[in-house]
Amino acid sequence: MTAVISTNTLDLLGNPLDPDGQAQVGRAGHSNRVYVNSATRRAKNPGFIPYRLTHGPLADLDHEGFATRLAAWSHDTLSLARDATHFGYIHGGRAEIECESGSFHLSRGMYFCIPRGGRVRGESQGIVVSRSGYFGFFQIGGPTEERGRLDYIDGCTDSLLVPPILLGDPCLNLLHFPPHIHQTQHTHPSMRIGIVASGRGECLTPEATIPLVAGGVFGIPAHGLHGFSTGEEPMRVIAYHPDSDFGATHERHPMINRTMVNGVSASYLDEIRTRRP
Ligand SMILES: [Fe+2]
Repeated sequence: MTAVISTNTLDLLGNPLDPDGQAQVGRAGHSNRVYVNSATRRAKNPGFIPYRLTHGPLADLDHEGFATRLAAWSHDTLSLARDATHFGYIHGGRAEIECESGSFHLSRGMYFCIPRGGRVRGESQGIVVSRSGYFGFFQIGGPTEERGRLDYIDGCTDSLLVPPILLGDPCLNLLHFPPHIHQTQHTHPSMRIGIVASGRGECLTPEATIPLVAGGVFGIPAHGLHGFSTGEEPMRVIAYHPDSDFGATHERHPMINRTMVNGVSASYLDEIRTRRP
């Protein structure tokens, strides 16, 4: 599968685009890819890649263990493959999702996490980020709150909408920018995929300043330098992360941490901790 991605010269993972603007990712084999070290990536990667919210596949991002596909639906049915977990956000209208957990109607501003396939349809629009080979918990939620529950940087706040089940797992986040925010330029160690849920703002990179409005879909490559800003209006973004450095481990989680044996947490008692075969 290939994806037409604006006129950038590199795709979300730092791979070169064809002269006709088509990403070379997702083709059989890796022969078309260029792998560069982190320093080169920081210098060459675009900090921001826009996508149009049009129905169907938008990008196939199979790289570095984060086999990720980005797609959108728009007033049509989008099938979700069985080999993945699908993180979705309803940007407009009222969507119907069907999966092994049942059929559910979700309104604008709601989100879902669907493992093992299904479909989304209805007079609605939204995006789906599909992570192959990973199987999360079925989850629906929202509409999202206006602001995040967690303090972030430069006045921004965020909430974990779909948290990692285990340390390292992917996650879905809400990111809120109040008016008159000028984020410190920064990078992330893995790619980000987002959609502007409401409001407007800009993304500033070394290459360009990109205006953002509600419904704008974008990717930020790993190590791509960027910063968001807002003017008179606030802005909210739904952001997918393919990995996390936060979450439960088998050794540390609420159930085992707070199980006490003679006053000692079971998390410290190797002799009774469950061992996986
Ligand atoms: Fe960022």
